[in-house]
Amino acid sequence: KPIYVLNGPNLNLLGRREPSVYGTDTLDDVRDLASARAKQLGAEIVFRQSNHEGELIDWIQEAREAARGIILNAGAFTHTSIGILDALQAAELPVIEVHLSNIFKRETYRHHSYVSLGSTGVICGLGAKGYELALEAMVQLTSKPQK
Ligand code: DQA
Repeated sequence: KPIYVLNGPNLNLLGRREPSVYGTDTLDDVRDLASARAKQLGAEIVFRQSNHEGELIDWIQEAREAARGIILNAGAFTHTSIGILDALQAAELPVIEVHLSNIFKRETYRHHSYVSLGSTGVICGLGAKGYELALEAMVQLTSKPQK
């Protein structure tokens, strides 16, 4: 089964959006990096982005059956969406939350994450590298017998 790598609102603007915060890599660059790392790890990924909360929830529900785990950068929905949290909890899969920026170094309204409450682990502040690290961790989490 593939690892789902899901990206939320405004991440389609990556590279053009506040490059001082998010860097100059585009989402296509992040996808290429993630695909290359997945290939090295012998894993398959499904990489998607949506600006719509409901679409992200649909994909998390789909992952429940179709994926071995979810890597999620929910963008601003991280800080607002109980619906996404509920979907993650219902999925009963390993979840790794990723943020390009260090959300704890930023505005206080970014310090709380609903997604974290439904996540196995969290990676933030390491830019696109965080996606590679998340893939590494997900492959480990899903190939060892669960204790
Ligand atoms: C983000 C951090 C969020 O606070 C913000 O709303 C984003 C991107 C990140 O990757 O650093 O859209 O998830």
